Amino acid sequence: MQRTFSIIKPDATKRNITGSINNIIEDSGLRIIAQKRIQLSVSQAKEFYSIHSEKSFFNDLIKYMTSEPVIVQVLEGSEAVLTYRNIMGATDPNQADEGTIRKLHALNVQENSVHGSVSNVNAEKEINFFFKEDEIVG
Ligand code: CMP
Repeated sequence: MQRTFSIIKPDATKRNITGSINNIIEDSGLRIIAQKRIQLSVSQAKEFYSIHSEKSFFNDLIKYMTSEPVIVQVLEGSEAVLTYRNIMGATDPNQADEGTIRKLHALNVQENSVHGSVSNVNAEKEINFFFKEDEIVG
């Protein structure tokens, strides 16, 4: 069993499609073992996305990620990191495979509905950034 970290982003919470996204997650076999709706602060968003701080889209990304509440989640399952990346689809929805969350729901490369960890190491860091262990019930 593996864990990964997920964010259902502002474009999705705003459009009331978090349930549709959770259905795709659960249909893949992943289990949502922790979930909460939060409003990201600017400093939290900057720290979480610090790896992108030099990118041209960084300021827009922070503005977007703090524009509406988000749902942060811990997902558990076999090969959870890879499984979630497969069902999310490519960052740019124009390049995402049919049936993926981003192909079905994302608006564009920034407002791409979901975030998922890129590796196990990254997943652990991202989970610890938002959750205490006693909030996760596997
Ligand atoms: P995510 O997987 O959360 O990681 C970084 C985020 O930055 C990404 O999803 C998008 O929301 C955003 N992003 C990535 N590439 C671009 C881009 N070229 N232009 C605008 N936003 C981007």
